[in-house]
Amino acid sequence: MYSIAIDGPAGAGKSTIAKTIAKKLEFIYVDTGAMYRAMALYFIRHEIDPKDEEAINKACPDIHVSINYEDGVQQVLLNGENVNGLIRTEEVGNMASKTSAYKMVRATLLDLQRDLAKTANILMDGRDIGTNVLPNADLKIYLTASSKVRAERRYKELVEKGVEADFDKIEEDIIIRDRQDMEREIAPLKQAEDAVLVDSSDMTIEEVVDAIVAEFEKVK
Ligand code: C5P
Repeated sequence: MYSIAIDGPAGAGKSTIAKTIAKKLEFIYVDTGAMYRAMALYFIRHEIDPKDEEAINKACPDIHVSINYEDGVQQVLLNGENVNGLIRTEEVGNMASKTSAYKMVRATLLDLQRDLAKTANILMDGRDIGTNVLPNADLKIYLTASSKVRAERRYKELVEKGVEADFDKIEEDIIIRDRQDMEREIAPLKQAEDAVLVDSSDMTIEEVVDAIVAEFEKVK
C-alpha cells in the first residue's frame, strides 16, 4: 500500500492538486483540514471561546468526526451529521486554525487519520502529514506559493463567484493563518526533512500535478 503526504500553507492549491492526483493514481484522497473544520464548527455552534483551552478540552470527548465517500468525494461527518456544506467559510477556517493548535484537538483526529492510511492507497493533505501523521509516507511533498500569489488566487476565486473581495485583507488573513499554523508548539506546519519542495507560484495546476506524479514514479 502506498501513501503520499502533501503539506503546505493555506491557499497553496493543495486540495485541487491533491484531488487531481488522487484521481489519476486511483488513490483515496483524505482532506485532513476538513476534519479540523468539522471540529471548529462544533466549537462555533457551542459558542466555545477559541482562547479557552479548558473549555475546548472539555468539549473534545463529545466530538466524533468520521468520513465517508459519496461518488469518490470525501464527506465529513460531525457526530453523524454530514457537515460538508457548512465548513468552507472563513469563520470556520479561522476557528480551525486557532483551535488546531491544541493538543486535545489534534489527538482527537490523529488515530482516525492514521487508520485511514492502513486501509488503502491514500493521498492525504494537511499541515503535519509528512512530519507527524504519516512519518513513513512513501512520498512527501511540501507545496507552497508566495502569500501574494495565494491571495491573488483566492481573490480571483471570490470575484468569479460574484463575492465582493478586498485583496489586501485576503493577503493579511493568509499571513496571519500562516503564522498561526507555523508558530504553534504542537505539530506546526513545516517542511519535513525528506519532503520534496514544490513552489507553485509560477506553475499551472497541470505542471504541479505532473511534477508530483513524476516524483511518485521515482519512489514507486
Ligand atoms: O486546509 P484547511 O484550510 O482546510 O485547514 C484548516 C485549518 O486546519 C488550518 O489552518 C490548520 O490550522 C488546521 N490543520 C491542521 N493540520 C492539518 C490540516 C489542517 O492543523 N493536518
